[in-house]
Amino acid sequence: MREKLGLLVCVWFVLWGSCVGRFVVEKNSLRVTSPESLKDVYECAIGNFGVPQYGGTMVGTVVYPKANQKACKSFEDVEISFKSKPGGLPTFLLADRGDCFFTLKAWNAQNAGAAAILVADDKIEPLITMDTPEEENAHADYLQNITIPSALISKSFGDSIKNALSKGDMVNINLDWRESLPHPDERVEYEFWTNSNDECGAKCESQIEFVKNFKGAAQIFERKGYTQFTPHYITWYCPDAFILSKQCKSQCINHGRYCAPDPEQDFSRGYDGKDVVVQNLRQACFFKVANESGKPWLWWDYVTDFAIRCPMKDKKYTKECADQVILSLGVDVKKIDQCIGDPEADVDNPVLKAEQDAQIGKGSRGDVTILPTLVINNRQYRGKLDKGAVLKAICAGFQETTEPTICLSDEVETNECLENNGGCWQDKAANITACKVLLCLLPVACYAFSACLLLGFNGSLLWCSSDLIILL
Ligand SMILES: *[C@@H]1O[C@H](CO)[C@@H](O)[C@H](O)[C@H]1NC(C)=O
Ligand SMILES: *[C@@H]1O[C@H](CO)[C@@H](O)[C@H](O)[C@H]1NC(C)=O
Ligand SMILES: *[C@@H]1O[C@H](CO)[C@@H](O)[C@H](O)[C@H]1NC(C)=O
Repeated sequence: MREKLGLLVCVWFVLWGSCVGRFVVEKNSLRVTSPESLKDVYECAIGNFGVPQYGGTMVGTVVYPKANQKACKSFEDVEISFKSKPGGLPTFLLADRGDCFFTLKAWNAQNAGAAAILVADDKIEPLITMDTPEEENAHADYLQNITIPSALISKSFGDSIKNALSKGDMVNINLDWRESLPHPDERVEYEFWTNSNDECGAKCESQIEFVKNFKGAAQIFERKGYTQFTPHYITWYCPDAFILSKQCKSQCINHGRYCAPDPEQDFSRGYDGKDVVVQNLRQACFFKVANESGKPWLWWDYVTDFAIRCPMKDKKYTKECADQVILSLGVDVKKIDQCIGDPEADVDNPVLKAEQDAQIGKGSRGDVTILPTLVINNRQYRGKLDKGAVLKAICAGFQETTEPTICLSDEVETNECLENNGGCWQDKAANITACKVLLCLLPVACYAFSACLLLGFNGSLLWCSSDLIILL
């Protein structure tokens, strides 16, 4: 059953995503300030965990440990500490790729006092995005506790640093995230690619948690016109040959046009994929109707209330429960029903059709393949989905001097010289010569097909990793 599903998913990927789309690795720039022989700007890929300092920079000195060079073991065990002495530069730990999850390396580095981790690739290849493993693989609750930024650097650059260190040179680096996001004007456009499914384990929980925590800030931004927010939902379609199969019937609506995977990967019980599609559609329609009445921020209330009042585990993931939440927010249920239309009918749904189109990458944004994904000013956000980290990223998306006051409040400008092992970040207003961001777009043909088959369908279509997103 799983294999078949995997195949469907891959067919979808090939048809929809990979062959015509591309994946973009989000980068920041890294400037070596000493030694003289290495002085230059290099590129590195932002890890999809920890807290990248969007809008800021961080200065440190590189340490490559004599033991535990892959950082897979705790540094306490080998009695090494990277805590910088008062007045000293913070430490950037250089670790080698391999043997364990990137997240474990970052966690060990943070605990030993490093302010950031640079992971040197172990083969010559284009930069890739380091991602978080699924919780079930990791057995760890430390994932959400990683606060230091991480960056993947190329093998050759890693080798040059090691070479300089072995000669006794001090290697100082300035990590710069100020140009990681475009910041053209006084309004930030952002998208949140999400899902109403609440039974997908840790990813779903952290997603709901984020929406709850971020709601307040999001609503202030939106009401005052500082941002334009749009929620998005991924669906895939069932290839023609499978439309009459049991899988497509239980997972799709509108005759195989819009599908989602079974929430608990068990077709015999609980809710089906098509229930998720319908609830996702209801959320998208809620946004459309609320936006048309000039109150797009109500979406945040709807989604948080729905998650609390209508969870799958209480068997309340239903239209009746959803309608009560809609009513309580003063939105017209009839308009939303109209927007949803008849899920059994053999017709297109304009809202879901637009969502499928939007999923394909455009301009500087790659295809959306990981859920949840945040896109800010048309660039995919990397880092953990956490209120403070996301706020910092959104604030970095405003043109200089046009940031709303909420961006200058304590919550964003915490004194990180004291936290995060001494890794300060400087505001983009600081007078530092801007470094050029090296952005590279990688057109990759059809590789997702093999990636999916290799990974198998481990129950998570939407989380199905692409080649450029790696875990270890
Ligand atoms: C992560 O942080 C939470 C909340 O601060 C804490 O309860 C938990 O013990 C931490 N986990 C680890 C592995 O440090
Ligand atoms: C929401 O409303 C604004 C203003 O009417 C409009 O510009 C925007 O395109 C709408 N967004 C969506 C997703 O319909
Ligand atoms: C900012 O940097 C420029 C170029 O290095 C320099 O000429 C200028 O004096 C600096 N301004 C301040 C306020 O430090």
